Amino acid sequence: MSEKILLVEDDPSVRLTIVTFLEMEGYDVEAVSNTRDALDRLSRKTYPLVISDIYIDDRTGIDVLMAAKKADSKALVILMSARGTMETVMVATRNGAFDSLAKPFELDTLLEAVKRALDARNSDDEEVEIEDLPESEMIGSSAGMVEIYKTLSKVAPTDATVIIQGETGTGKELIARMIHRFSSRSQQPFVPVDCSAIPAALLESELFGAMKGAFTGAERDRIGVFESANKGTVFLDEIGDIDPSFQVKLLRFLQEREIRPVGASREKKVDVRVIAATNRDLQKMVDDGKFREDLWFRLNVVRLDLPPLRERRVDVPLLAQYFVAKYNGRYNRDVRLTESGLRTLRDFTWPGNVRQLQHLIERLTILAPNDRIDSEAVHDAISAMEPKDGGGETLAETESDQIRRVLAATGGNKSRAAAILGIERKTLYRKLERMKL
Ligand SMILES: Nc1ncnc2c1ncn2[C@@H]1O[C@H](COP(=O)(O)OP(=O)(O)OP(=O)(O)O)[C@@H](O)[C@H]1O
Ligand SMILES: [Mg+2]
Repeated sequence: MSEKILLVEDDPSVRLTIVTFLEMEGYDVEAVSNTRDALDRLSRKTYPLVISDIYIDDRTGIDVLMAAKKADSKALVILMSARGTMETVMVATRNGAFDSLAKPFELDTLLEAVKRALDARNSDDEEVEIEDLPESEMIGSSAGMVEIYKTLSKVAPTDATVIIQGETGTGKELIARMIHRFSSRSQQPFVPVDCSAIPAALLESELFGAMKGAFTGAERDRIGVFESANKGTVFLDEIGDIDPSFQVKLLRFLQEREIRPVGASREKKVDVRVIAATNRDLQKMVDDGKFREDLWFRLNVVRLDLPPLRERRVDVPLLAQYFVAKYNGRYNRDVRLTESGLRTLRDFTWPGNVRQLQHLIERLTILAPNDRIDSEAVHDAISAMEPKDGGGETLAETESDQIRRVLAATGGNKSRAAAILGIERKTLYRKLERMKL
C-alpha cells in the first residue's frame, strides 16, 4: 500500500513538480497551498509524513509541524525553505522536525529524505523499553562489579588506605567518591588531587603546604591539601605518575600521618584517609624499579581492580539506558534506544570504557536522527568521535547541521558543544566563522 504524504507548498510550480515526482515514485500525495488547509487536513486525519515549506502565509511550516505532531506524535515532518536561517533550523529541530532541506534541492535529495523517514517509521528495529533504573549513581550488575561492591562495602567504613586500579574511564574516581560517601567521614571534605597535572616541584607544597617565604612567590602561608582535608579523604589520582623523590615523602606521610609544610620547622598531625588511583600497573612499575616497593605496600592495603567495560558487556545495556535517561533529562529530549542500537553498543570494544560510552550517548541524545539510537546512528557516532587527522578542516553539510543542533541543545554554550562534538573549541570557532554564524 502506498504511503500517504501531505505536502504544503504555496508555490504552484514547485508544488506540481514535487507531487508529480513523488507520485511517479509510487507515493500517494495530497497537496495543499496554504496553512489553513494544512491545519484543517491535519485535524481530520493523520499522515505518516508531512512535507512543508517554512514560509507560506501568516503561519509557517513550524505551525504545520506542531499541528502534525499534535495529531500524531509519531508523524514525521520534513521542512524546506529557501530562506532557512540558523534560527529556523533550530526551532524546527527543537520541535522534532525529521529533516530540513535547503531550497533549491535535487529531487533525489528529497526522495532520499522521504525514504529515510518512512523507513525509520516502518522499520522493525523496535525501541527498547527503559528498564527501571537503580537509584544508584553506580551502574553495573556484572559479576566483576558485584565483587567490587562487596569489597567496597567492607572497606568503606574503615579508615584503610585503598588503591584503585583500572583503565581510563572505568570509574576509579566514582568508586573513590563512593568509598568516601559510605564512610564515617562522609560529612567531611573529599579532596581529589590529580598528581599527573601538578609539576613535581609543586606537588610537595600542594599536598603539605608551605610557609610564607619558603620559596620565591610564597607571599603567605599556604595550607596544603592534607591539612585542608583534615578529618576527610584525600584522593590521589594518577599516583603512578609521581616522581621518585616525592614517593619517599609520601611514604613517610603514610607511615607517620604528619605533615611538615615546606619551610616549616615542625610537624603537624593530620587525620586523613588516603585513596589512590592509577591506570598503570603499579606491580609492574615496582618490578621495573619505577615505583618504590615500600610505598606500594603502604598503598596496597586494600586493592580494587576495576574491570574494563569490554570484560563486562552485560553492563552496557543498563549503562546506556542510564545515560540516555540522564541526557534526555538534561537536554530535554525524548531519544530512544533501539534493539539494534543496543546490540551495537554492546559489541563495541570501548577502549575509553564507561566515559567513552557516556560521551557517545550524550552526543547521540542530541544528534540521533529521528530521536532513535539505532545501529547506524551508533556506527556514525563512533566514527565521528574517532580522532581525525588534518584537524577536520572540511565542512560537510551534515557537519554544519550537527554543529547547529549541538549548539541549540547546549543553549549556545560553545565549550560544551565542542566537547560533545569531540573537537577543540578553536576548531569550533573556525567552523562557525566559515558557516558565517
Ligand atoms: N559504573 C558506572 N556507572 C555510572 N557511571 C559511571 C560508571 N563508571 C564510570 N562512570 C562515569 O564515567 C565517567 C568516567 O569515570 P571516572 O572519572 O571515575 O573514570 P576514571 O577511571 O577515573 O578515568 P581516568 O583514568 O581517565 O581518570 C564519569 O563521568 C563517571 O561518572
Ligand atoms: Mg580519573
